[in-house]
Amino acid sequence: MCGIVGYIGKREKKEIILNGLKELEYRGYDSAGLAVLKDSEIVHFKAVGKLDNLKEKTKDFKSDGSGLAIGHTRWATHGKPTELNAHPHLGKFSYVIHNGIIENYQELKKELQEKGAVFVSQTDSEVIVHLFEENLKNSKPFEAFEKTIKSLKGAYAILLITKANPDKIFFAKNLVPLIVGKNSQDEIFFSSSDAPLINLAEDVIYLNDLDYGYAKKGKIKLFSNGKNKNLEFKKLSVSKLSAQKEGFRFFMEKEIYEQSAVSSETIMGRINENDIILENIEDDFFEDIREITICACGTSYHAALTASYLLERISKIKTTVEIASEFRYKEPLLLKDTLFIVISQSGETADTLQALKMAKNAGLKTLSICNVDNSSIVRLSDKTLLTRAGIEKGVASTKAFTTQVLLLWILSLKIALLKKEIDKDFFKKEVENISKVPTVLKVDEKLHEKIRRLSKRYLHGHGFFFIGRDIFYPLSLEGALKLKEISYLHAEGYPAGEMKHGPIALADSKLFTIALMPKSLLYDKVKSNVEELSARDATILALSPLEFEIADDFIKTKGYDHPMLEFFEMTVILQLLSLEISVRLGNDVDMPRNLAKSVTVE
Ligand code: M6R
Repeated sequence: MCGIVGYIGKREKKEIILNGLKELEYRGYDSAGLAVLKDSEIVHFKAVGKLDNLKEKTKDFKSDGSGLAIGHTRWATHGKPTELNAHPHLGKFSYVIHNGIIENYQELKKELQEKGAVFVSQTDSEVIVHLFEENLKNSKPFEAFEKTIKSLKGAYAILLITKANPDKIFFAKNLVPLIVGKNSQDEIFFSSSDAPLINLAEDVIYLNDLDYGYAKKGKIKLFSNGKNKNLEFKKLSVSKLSAQKEGFRFFMEKEIYEQSAVSSETIMGRINENDIILENIEDDFFEDIREITICACGTSYHAALTASYLLERISKIKTTVEIASEFRYKEPLLLKDTLFIVISQSGETADTLQALKMAKNAGLKTLSICNVDNSSIVRLSDKTLLTRAGIEKGVASTKAFTTQVLLLWILSLKIALLKKEIDKDFFKKEVENISKVPTVLKVDEKLHEKIRRLSKRYLHGHGFFFIGRDIFYPLSLEGALKLKEISYLHAEGYPAGEMKHGPIALADSKLFTIALMPKSLLYDKVKSNVEELSARDATILALSPLEFEIADDFIKTKGYDHPMLEFFEMTVILQLLSLEISVRLGNDVDMPRNLAKSVTVE
């Protein structure tokens, strides 16, 4: 996590850095800082909390004319969110910003302390600047930087500036993203993602792992493993990503309302009456595949679980779902005829990226379902299907989830067609239902109002169970995750039929149960499970198209005939419920405590 930006050029540097950090604030907002190097003098500012605090601190500071600047927004890994732990970290005459984790920082720190270095923070990152200054005692600045990088183990995107070489930014990248950009005015930019570079840089290089180098006005030098590398620029082809709230109270709310529109984009050009067309993926890509493994984290993992039901039911292909952080260290059996799918909104999640690398190294075919083009995961996987949800700013994922599930439904049908597992009539009906998704996802404002009123009852209590069966089980996990993330209330998602094997012991009137009771899938089974809970006084909020008298609260759904349509309808209801509970509790909906949008540490 953490976001970093850098700039070499004549414009007002503070503004470029602050605007860039604004775009990256979703990556962490525990603290922020910046440093400007001009005429061999470095000025720096740090502030705890959101970026606005840094803005306030720097309001009288001017930094136009020649020089360079770096900035950082932090998601704390080592050390509390304090000013001392905020970046940039200072040596005697050099400053560093870092995203990632330096795994061997303790041993390096010990060695440096023995040589007299004074550490003031609890971070792993501070070691970089002291090590650089130590190396500088016997080497020129770039050699000292090169030596420093060689000693580091772990993940890093680093920008370092020093009075010892005041016209350069030294940079290095391993396992977390770093982009360098330039334009025709000889300005140079660095960033953790595309967004801050839009309207500034024209051409960019997405640095590879173990790339490092330096930049000065109009010039970039890139190295890997001691050797000079060619600069392979790409045009920055992203449209303006800087999403605005457009009248909504929160990005999350706007993104819930956007789901109808973006799901049309997900579908566009991919389905017709007879076939599914997956851009850039030839049919033979799916040949000889006997199994599928899907790997992801968080909400994307819930989309993966949902897809596993579809892939087995529709495409008749064995599908295993893995949590990326578990998968990495379990020494998994990777069989060659397995298609390895990763799902990620950001395309930068460290665990998912590493799992993808393992699959690639084992020679598996890989496919990513991703929302961010050009992200690390997209660049690494053999094939990609973009969800086309547009930038998602709310930390709590909403439209990324619905578009992932929708795309995976489309993919299941494609595989089923290729394997001849479904007939024309079934396919036609599925396609008709897929076309209905944008309508199903349209938020009914009256329903939203009802949920707003209802949310009052669900602020206190000793916890929530979200229960469902089949695809509504992953949806119950997702409903619980949404609530946890933004309301900080304890919630669990559970298979409805599993409650009686233990969790029902918790049932009393202060246990809130959100029951997902679609009419098109296992209605009677879930009903019995909910009745068992109600008999033990649990407070029930039922979501169903069929009247259910024993529920304490009831949200009547439309009663679509297809389980996937009921699934999407209930998804929106659960998202709105979490949103309204969080609002009533006065929480920061878009930037909930302790979280970051993009999790680039393991
Ligand atoms: O970008 P990714 O989809 O790889 O992110 C995975 C999780 O970090 C993410 O889904 C997280 O759980 C969200 N905050 C959920 O709302």
